[in-house]
Amino acid sequence: MNNSTDRRQGRIRIKEALATAEAKERIIVRGWTRTVRRGKEVAFIALNDGSCFASLQVVLGPDVEHYEAAVRCGTGACLEVEGALVASPAAGQRWEVHAHRVKLLGTSDAAYPLQKKRHSFEYLRSIAHLRPRANAFGAVFRVRSALSFAIHSFFRERGFLYVHTPIITGNDCEGAGEMFRVTTLDAAEPAKLDGSIDWQQDFFSHRTGLTVSGQLQGELFASAFSDIYTFGPTFRAENSNTSRHAAEFWMIEPEMAFADLAEDCALAEDFLRYLVTYALQECGEDLAFFDERIEKGLLAKLETLAKAEFQTMSYSEAVRRLEQAGRSFEFPVAWGADLQSEHERYLTEEVVGGPLFVTDYPADIKAFYMRQNDDGKTVAAMDLLVPRVGEIIGGSQREERLDVLESKMGACGIDPQNLWWYLDSRRWGSCPHSGFGLGFERLLMYVTGMENIRDVIPFPRTPGNANF
Ligand code: 4AD
Ligand code: MG
Repeated sequence: MNNSTDRRQGRIRIKEALATAEAKERIIVRGWTRTVRRGKEVAFIALNDGSCFASLQVVLGPDVEHYEAAVRCGTGACLEVEGALVASPAAGQRWEVHAHRVKLLGTSDAAYPLQKKRHSFEYLRSIAHLRPRANAFGAVFRVRSALSFAIHSFFRERGFLYVHTPIITGNDCEGAGEMFRVTTLDAAEPAKLDGSIDWQQDFFSHRTGLTVSGQLQGELFASAFSDIYTFGPTFRAENSNTSRHAAEFWMIEPEMAFADLAEDCALAEDFLRYLVTYALQECGEDLAFFDERIEKGLLAKLETLAKAEFQTMSYSEAVRRLEQAGRSFEFPVAWGADLQSEHERYLTEEVVGGPLFVTDYPADIKAFYMRQNDDGKTVAAMDLLVPRVGEIIGGSQREERLDVLESKMGACGIDPQNLWWYLDSRRWGSCPHSGFGLGFERLLMYVTGMENIRDVIPFPRTPGNANF
């Protein structure tokens, strides 16, 4: 950090300034004014540069050049401050800066929307271009950055190969018909053949869209490198306006050759524990804010999870538990129906009170690639459910038997011609293998306590909204 900041004419980050062991005669900091308070003789400016949650208190006397301008600008201005770092008499902060010199880098005025009073998250979404400067979002995006790094560390420590799977693809992995179309055809007058759109004339000579999952390509790489993972943006044109769905989200998808469903669950458990432990160790100041202001008891919850053994329950058992719940759900419960969010939350929050793997779902409600169990009715699938968020991970053991996979595709109405390359992986050197997908934003909701997915991604894309 020192190198990068020193090059900018001696400026140091506020995080560094606050972590200093002893007073300093001269430091330079730059940042944005959070609050200005005029005292009798001096003014106090809280300066924040995003490097940490805390702001640095700047004490500014009227003799300092540009005093009036800096104070008048108020919240939102961008300042450079040179001064002495001295022990602060104020409670809750070790250091403050006594300014010798102030430079107004960017002015602000009373129309700046992020003035002192607290705003609703809903309002802040409408100013997503400014909300990174609000406390809660500073904390969210620092945690997001730290956990992105932790994801790579986790897999690197375990020898997994990082592979970049394509964003533009011709295949709808999940088969749910939720792909955004990618085309260069004229929307008003597309090329036609016999009355229908002639995709041959399109850029890629066939229909393409934005990926809903990197899994199928990930499987090909696992068939060469044994253990791989992808971590990238994923797109779903799912018209569901919920607090847990985004049209653009990030997903981490590991894939392991020679692994069955139990080993898949074990990896998911280690992974989640690692990420939570990492956040507790590296993001303490931000998590303390979430614990106090967003979800009471968050730290205790995360500390418990870091040590917990995750529970496992079959789908059939889960349905039994739901039927015996003695309460009415909005969506009826019956073997064969997909679990809804309310069911998932009941199981994880009230039946086990912690993370829960639900396994072996009915084949009919899961994707074509999942391995058929011997009962002929269920597949080797797993979903990891956590309190408040519900499904955070979806995974499975994959169908590695060519004949079973082909007949499954036929039953699902998938043309084998379109996935000839996927079938080839079962033709030559097929092996048992498993993987899962962790929704990065769902993880962040769990770790920060934020209740809406729109508040853990910088610029959310949801039905009717792709601003900024
Ligand atoms: O359960 P899903 O659909 O599984 C797959 O895509 C598999 N191909 C993964 C694999 O086995 N490699 O999605 C995985 C996870 C979900 O558990 C959820 O956390 C997240 O992705 N997710 C979403 N997150 C935000 N918005 C959406 N619309 C999401 N859809 C899925
Ligand atoms: Mg799923």
